[in-house]
Amino acid sequence: MLNRLERQLATEYKKKHCVLTASGTVALWLAFSQLPLGKKVLLPAMVCPNLLYAASLAEREVVYADIRDIDATICPDSVESKLSRHSEIGIVVAVHLFGNNANIRVLKDVVDKHGAILVEDAAQSMGGLDDENVLLGTKGDVSILSFGHTKIIQAGGGGAFLTDNDDWTKDARSLLSTLDHVSKSRLDELSEEYRRLFYPIWIAGQREQSFYSLFESFPMLFKDMFLHQAGSDQVAKITNALEGLAEKVTHRREVAEIYRHELSPVDGIKFFRSAKGIVPWRFSFRIDPSIRGQFLKYIRDKGFDVSSWYPCVAKWMCDEAESGHFPVAERIEREIINLWVDESYGQNRAMELSCAVNEFMGSLHNQLKKGEVR
Ligand SMILES: Cc1ncc(COP(=O)(O)O)c(C=O)c1O
Repeated sequence: MLNRLERQLATEYKKKHCVLTASGTVALWLAFSQLPLGKKVLLPAMVCPNLLYAASLAEREVVYADIRDIDATICPDSVESKLSRHSEIGIVVAVHLFGNNANIRVLKDVVDKHGAILVEDAAQSMGGLDDENVLLGTKGDVSILSFGHTKIIQAGGGGAFLTDNDDWTKDARSLLSTLDHVSKSRLDELSEEYRRLFYPIWIAGQREQSFYSLFESFPMLFKDMFLHQAGSDQVAKITNALEGLAEKVTHRREVAEIYRHELSPVDGIKFFRSAKGIVPWRFSFRIDPSIRGQFLKYIRDKGFDVSSWYPCVAKWMCDEAESGHFPVAERIEREIINLWVDESYGQNRAMELSCAVNEFMGSLHNQLKKGEVR
């Protein structure tokens, strides 16, 4: 069954090899571990922290490139400039953040020109297509997938490392065999502790940046959670879940379309570029940072889910030379709002949530007119 699933994914993603892993994080760790020691990994400045943890566990230093204002994906000009200045960068990671497609064609040319490896992270974009209708995740020298919590296909965990390279695949399989099996109860315990510690540090860091340095100990503290063998039932769960992909893709696109339609006339909301082929991870948009705290509270008090994810992780590192150089990521971190588009939000609930957003923005507009808010 494992061989069949690996072959199915390799065929779908037009790669010679697929190595199934316990998570997207393990797949990233396998990719980063291919780099000779001393080489660095270039990440988007705003991204899921697991990418940093994977690099840290692979003992590879990270540098960052800013993201694009139109879709929050890594900016090819910023990548070009970093590659020109840092010859030690060996891997560039393009993440289709929020499901938005990074400009892989341009990135691949830039990365090839500098002799680096392009890792395409399709963890949040499964089933999505680029502007030429090509499946996201098919163009990287290595592509990675995730079947974990909140992803488009949720199978209670799982990931994939995909590549055409025979040597990297051989190395990946042998590295994978060095990982331990970790029990479900231990994983649950660790992920509860992680959540308990992560949010207070994140909040403190937003007030005073030096608190972010506490995250440096996370990769080792939570090593068993990030790096372990896949459970014995993982293959069956992923195989079953994949059968529902087309339905999930349609649902997400329809719900996102409702939000876009209902919220388009609302003053004070800024959308990312609309691309027809993508599969939204969440419906993400931006509002003024001065009202975001009130917005999140209002929407949550009404009983809806909403988040302000992702952080500008480039600020977490203490290297003064690098901080303050990611204006787009730093701005989007303060403005971003995510609404749910998975099966827990049907068309009616999406309409109700749109009304709540509308109400909040409308009442704010009235207060502004009356001079009650500045
Ligand atoms: C863009 C991205 N890449 C990789 C990962 C890691 O995937 P996993 O949760 O399966 O470890 C995540 C989520 O955590 C993600 O959002």
